[in-house]
Amino acid sequence: MSAGRSGANATPGVRTTTGTGSTPEGQPSNGIDPATVPYKVMPDGARIPAIGLGTFGSDSVSAERVAEAVIEAAGMGYRHFDCAAVYGNEKHIGKSLRTILTKGIHRDELFITSKLWNDKHDEAEVIPAFEKSLGDLGLDYLDLYLIHWPFPNHHAPGVAVTSRAKDARPYIHADYMKIWRRLESLVDGGLVRNIGCSNMTIPKLELLFRDARIKPAVNEMELHPHFQQPRLFDWVRDHGMVPIGFSPLGSPGRPERDRTPEDSVDIEDPVLVDMARAQGVHPASICIQWAIQRGQVPIPFSASKKNLLANLQAAVSSPLTAQDMTALEGIDRNCRLIKGQVFLWEEGQTWEDLWDVDGVILG
Ligand SMILES: NC(=O)c1ccc[n+]([C@@H]2O[C@H](COP(=O)([O-])OP(=O)(O)OC[C@H]3O[C@@H](n4cnc5c(N)ncnc54)[C@H](OP(=O)(O)O)[C@@H]3O)[C@@H](O)[C@H]2O)c1
Repeated sequence: MSAGRSGANATPGVRTTTGTGSTPEGQPSNGIDPATVPYKVMPDGARIPAIGLGTFGSDSVSAERVAEAVIEAAGMGYRHFDCAAVYGNEKHIGKSLRTILTKGIHRDELFITSKLWNDKHDEAEVIPAFEKSLGDLGLDYLDLYLIHWPFPNHHAPGVAVTSRAKDARPYIHADYMKIWRRLESLVDGGLVRNIGCSNMTIPKLELLFRDARIKPAVNEMELHPHFQQPRLFDWVRDHGMVPIGFSPLGSPGRPERDRTPEDSVDIEDPVLVDMARAQGVHPASICIQWAIQRGQVPIPFSASKKNLLANLQAAVSSPLTAQDMTALEGIDRNCRLIKGQVFLWEEGQTWEDLWDVDGVILG
């Protein structure tokens, strides 16, 4: 797995052209040349841009606004979009992708991810769920398809964190593998270029690696300066997977249900704030620089044009110093924000029970 930060595509790529016109590719002149955005190489040889746009509106940004942001982001030079059925906006994003593709950007320049939601873990439901996402996105293949969570435990939108699905179950590896086989068949059929997982732990990944014919290309996992997950991060990379980091800014806009009093705020951390001040940028930019330099692929969400551009600019800005990287390693607080309480399967459990903290999968 090689990162593209060194070499030809490490050159900072801020467009210097002025004016309000568009390039022949339909990009505004104040965007970033996508050819200068760093990338990582997937197991099939495809390049995944080292920054993607998250598309979960956190229950507060409408599907229409997210879809507009996708068009704005593509115009600025984003080529990687992290989608999911459960975000409830794939149809809207599909329309945006059609617009983008008619503006001279080719399908093979885009990197599009979707994810199988927890209520589609029955073997027979996997392919129809995939086809729905593919159809909603208006595409004939996906670059990446993920199993969103390793639990089949569905919850209705907006329920309290104490709510449990009646048929909620723990992780059952044999059931997970039934889903995985379906994902493998999508690769065999040319409908998906790479498959992967999300919210997995080392014990679960060990089983998946043991039994998968097509190994997972990525683990999408929570990663930000206050939650660096060093053991899992190293394990993922040592096994040739790309770590995709969700909530890379510490998810400041996450829904109320995902907040607890002990959560810390990355972008208010004094080390980050001082570094940002020295560079004349927002602390969010430091989170993105740190993420890419460390070797993960951050997928920040934004519905603000200013922030969309700032985040992409951060991806092509000068590297942080070794001293900065060491200082940022030192601010890890092991503070998981997306705890997943609603996916627990028994009364009386705590969210830690989802994450195999003692190295054992709870059954
Ligand atoms: N696989 C999974 O289970 C999973 C779980 C959670 C999330 N995800 C993915 O990860 C993506 C990102 O995660 P997230 O939305 O939780 O958190 P995030 O990207 O860390 O934070 C997004 C928030 O930060 C703000 N923001 C963005 N850029 C900024 C900047 N430059 N300066 C200041 N504020 C900025 C945004 O507000 P504005 O809109 O105002 O910019 C938004 O409120 C999601 O959209 C989703 O695609 C995946």
